[in-house]
Amino acid sequence: MAQHIYQSQLLHFLNAEELVHFEDGALVVDDETGRIVEVGAAQDILARYENLAVTRYENKIIMPGFIDSHVHFPQVDVIASYGAQLLDWLNNYTFPTEISFKDQDKASQTAHFFLNELFKNGTTTALVFATVHKESVNAFFNASEHYNSRMICGKVMMDRNAPDELCDTAQSSFDDTQELIDQWHEKGRQLYAVTPRFAITSTAEQLEKAGQLMQANPTVYMQTHLSENQAEIDFVKELFPERKSYLDVYDYYGLLGPRSVFAHGVHLDKEDFERLSETRSGIAFCPTSNLFLGSGLFDLQQAQSHGVPVSMASDVGGGTSFSMLQTLNEAYKICQLRGVSLQARQAFYMLTLGNAKALSLEDKIGNFEVGKEADFIVMDCHSTALMQRKVGTCKTLDEMLFSMMILGDDRAISETYVAGKPVYKKA
Ligand code: GUN
Ligand code: ZN
Repeated sequence: MAQHIYQSQLLHFLNAEELVHFEDGALVVDDETGRIVEVGAAQDILARYENLAVTRYENKIIMPGFIDSHVHFPQVDVIASYGAQLLDWLNNYTFPTEISFKDQDKASQTAHFFLNELFKNGTTTALVFATVHKESVNAFFNASEHYNSRMICGKVMMDRNAPDELCDTAQSSFDDTQELIDQWHEKGRQLYAVTPRFAITSTAEQLEKAGQLMQANPTVYMQTHLSENQAEIDFVKELFPERKSYLDVYDYYGLLGPRSVFAHGVHLDKEDFERLSETRSGIAFCPTSNLFLGSGLFDLQQAQSHGVPVSMASDVGGGTSFSMLQTLNEAYKICQLRGVSLQARQAFYMLTLGNAKALSLEDKIGNFEVGKEADFIVMDCHSTALMQRKVGTCKTLDEMLFSMMILGDDRAISETYVAGKPVYKKA
């Protein structure tokens, strides 16, 4: 059997409270199935698997690959575009850029760049927006299939308040989405998400179609945006005066549920949180985006105290970094301004098993349980002179992890493995 041992300091979570940490650990991976065979103390594992090849790391930590619960692959060229808040930013930069994704070559080249950027940052799974074009989804899934990465993606549904070139119709979005579901959902590691962009760019008729798609395809996901920005919320009120809140628009059309992920949720009230919790609908917390677009300070504690599943997300290109470590850095500061200090343990739990749970993927990824898919990263604790110096002063694992999440970025990712195969190695 082709199996391989990776020996290093190592950690993963069994649940939100239990972190397993080996100063000298070993991960046994089956190269053919791409699954975890065993994890444990190196001394024990090495004695029992005498004939396997061993890769040893110094000053590194092996952990499960990071999961990004909200990101836009066509927005790699929109990142770091100057000026204004959400609606102007969409009209001035995002929509014009997304028009070019009807071209499958452009979409394919961008999808490969995007996936390589994720791997370089230690992200192995993401919930991804494509554009309104079927071609963009085909390009993305073809690229993801090439790397055998576990990805969730969907064709944007939008039939108003956007340039003509980006608008579908309620019926064409329904037909195209069903065709893409049939083609891609659960094909290898690929999964589909029904993707109405947000309430502003969909007619009532289109949202109704999105709800029908969710009903007809019970294992697909739903992703959209919710209560990110005040002007956006005011516009939704104008468009749907009969609904009692922004969330209620989605609720009315049957879009809430355990496989639904709402990006942002910065300006929600108690009733909204209760309804999200009741329906087990998730929120993707997008700290770098919320700061960059001046959207507001997400209230992580309030969401969690209502029992709403919250995941961590980059939201590139509204977000400013592919790095989930940098995402934690900004999440920490937002929580500080809300009067709570986000603990490193909770933060790394969210990036791995927590986000896997929020995406109903905890039976497949998120930790090193035997039989799970071997998506893992090798983090470099000495990736810069400053980090090496800082880590040298840390007395506990928590202090060290905290330094990594504040100082770390793509340089802290040494290697990334997807289903047991290397997809990135730092030069
Ligand atoms: N709301 C609707 N579309 C978008 C988008 O592309 N990015 C962000 N951040 N918010 C949105
Ligand atoms: Zn977004």
